[in-house]
Amino acid sequence: MNYKITGFDIPHTSKEDKLRRILDSALESKIGKIKPSITGNLIYWNAEHFDLHKVEIFTASTPEEQTIILELCNQTLLEEAYFIEKAGIGYMAKMVMLAETTEERMLYALFSADEVTHLAQISSFLTNPELVSTNNAFLHLLADVAETSDKSVLIFVLQVILEGWGLTHYRNLAKNCQHTELKAVLQSFLEDESRHHATGVRLCEQISIEHQTQKTIIEILASFLQMVQVGPQGVVTAVEQVLGSLSRQQKITVFQQLGAESHSSTRLNLLRNLITNPQTTAIVQELEERNAFTPFSPQQCTTS
Ligand SMILES: [Fe+2]
Ligand SMILES: [Fe+2]
Repeated sequence: MNYKITGFDIPHTSKEDKLRRILDSALESKIGKIKPSITGNLIYWNAEHFDLHKVEIFTASTPEEQTIILELCNQTLLEEAYFIEKAGIGYMAKMVMLAETTEERMLYALFSADEVTHLAQISSFLTNPELVSTNNAFLHLLADVAETSDKSVLIFVLQVILEGWGLTHYRNLAKNCQHTELKAVLQSFLEDESRHHATGVRLCEQISIEHQTQKTIIEILASFLQMVQVGPQGVVTAVEQVLGSLSRQQKITVFQQLGAESHSSTRLNLLRNLITNPQTTAIVQELEERNAFTPFSPQQCTTS
């Protein structure tokens, strides 16, 4: 699939391309020199961040196995951030074109540049800083939403909910990060991201959500919430990749020990708060009726 707005599959230029030097100097004038890419995997977030220290099968594995599992979990977080920032550049640029006032247009152009600096900074911590594809279901959903031409869907879903969600996500990543430089980079994103979110909230107050738009938003949010209801699947996948596939019963135990239900419940509550505002009562109600804010049990997580 060709994601025009998020640009997930567009290539990087060759290493020798002069554009890179111009880009580097443009970035340097904005945020200072970005350190060259690191080599080798590093553990930025430890087992506690993922609640893996509570999982018996993890603590019983060898130190080498534990390291590989943590490296996989770490890379997943960084790669997700890379694609979210890349998507942000295109989304904000699209909003420049859709802006209805001069100030709105100016803000979105600034925001697009914010996401450029975030992408450049995150990239320097990735083992492979030139990713051109992903099979992450959440990112595919994000990419689909970004293609829509309905401005209220864009603002409500991407800017109010996902930027709001991203803000909490980055705050949590910054808090638990063990690497001083990456921690500082993540903290530096927070002010920008909160401005992106606040603009969405402000613009949302001015639009009325039509019936058809409401239905679209409900479907998108139901899919997104389900990805949260199913618990920390990525962590379990990383465990299986290193220790071999687990039986159903073993998986249930792992989800239990990871505290999957309370893990999801916290996130679902945060999302419900972000979704709830005076114009969206009907949306929240419909999602409630579908049990979209209820976390899955460890048994349900296993079959998802
Ligand atoms: Fe960002
Ligand atoms: Fe953002």
